Amino acid sequence: MKAALIENYGDIGQLIYTDTQTPVIAANQVLIKVHAAGVNPVDCYIRSGLFKDTGTHSLPLTLGWDTAGTVEQVGEAVTGHKVGDQVFAMAPFATNGSYAEYLAIEADIVVSKPKRLSFAESAAVPLAALTAWQGLFTEGKLQAGQRVLIHNTSGGVGSFAVQLAKAAGAYVIGTASEKNREFVESLGVDQFIDYQNSTFEDVVDPVDLVFAGAVGAVGGDDVVTRSLEVIKNGGHLISLFDEIDEALALERGVTYHKLMVQPNAADLTQIKDLLEQGKVKVHLDSLFPLADAQLAHQRSESKRTVGKIVLQVIAD
Ligand SMILES: NC(=O)c1ccc[n+]([C@@H]2O[C@H](COP(=O)([O-])OP(=O)(O)OC[C@H]3O[C@@H](n4cnc5c(N)ncnc54)[C@H](OP(=O)(O)O)[C@@H]3O)[C@@H](O)[C@H]2O)c1
Repeated sequence: MKAALIENYGDIGQLIYTDTQTPVIAANQVLIKVHAAGVNPVDCYIRSGLFKDTGTHSLPLTLGWDTAGTVEQVGEAVTGHKVGDQVFAMAPFATNGSYAEYLAIEADIVVSKPKRLSFAESAAVPLAALTAWQGLFTEGKLQAGQRVLIHNTSGGVGSFAVQLAKAAGAYVIGTASEKNREFVESLGVDQFIDYQNSTFEDVVDPVDLVFAGAVGAVGGDDVVTRSLEVIKNGGHLISLFDEIDEALALERGVTYHKLMVQPNAADLTQIKDLLEQGKVKVHLDSLFPLADAQLAHQRSESKRTVGKIVLQVIAD
């Protein structure tokens, strides 16, 4: 099969479109014929070797951990899926990914695809929306009527986080660049903050939760630590990237959690329901054919993605 994979860690030139072996499924897996693969910043981090000393991966490695496609084969122990089902999923990081014509994946993390979405839109969802879900609700304990500050609402994770928090009945304050104000307001934010021209601590009234998505993109800024200043006693602080001194959070009575997103079929099913009800929408920044995976990584590394980047393996 064709795949976009790395044989060595390094720059975008290491991501090659080539032939590789079609995966063989285990008894608890399904083989997905991939129609589209979502692109996330972590794909570029893994390509460049950020996790190479963790023992998580071996080379060659097919990148990409978001997929939408049709079930091509089912393992002998699988009961919940059948050949021909249209599905979407986040694959575990430890395995070969979805920048390929086929993906072998554990059946119990695969969910039927939202009917009203294309394969490309569906592939944009799992990793980013699960991150938002697990940050806001599983760890952040967000409830209807509470106030949440979401940092960086124009990217993949942030754009889902705003919509999920609104759908849950929260009051949502979101930061982004002024040029993305209209997009972010269309997602439903109640208060928009242009983080480049204002200091959020000066303009935000106390919140129950801060969800610090994409703060890694800020580079050296101490947005997560500064966020403690706007959280009520008893509130939550979720970081996706930067670490803080946990003692500072304790002093202020804030529960701090550094999140690492996990595949989870129950969470993805709840997200699917909201997509089907039209309460959450997918905004595609750009679509590239699988053969142009390098261009997709170039776009992701621009750090200017609005919504999501997707690789098309089969045109919708
Ligand atoms: N821990 C986890 O499990 C987990 C899961 C998913 C993602 N993440 C991390 O979370 C981050 C966001 O992911 P994503 O998929 O949303 O990324 P993304 O889609 O690539 O984010 C793009 C956005 O980043 C914003 N941005 C760029 N430079 C910025 C800066 N200096 N300060 C603030 N915002 C800036 C831009 O917004 P403006 O142009 O509006 O400024 C752009 O729209 C990444 O670092 C990713 O690795 C972590």
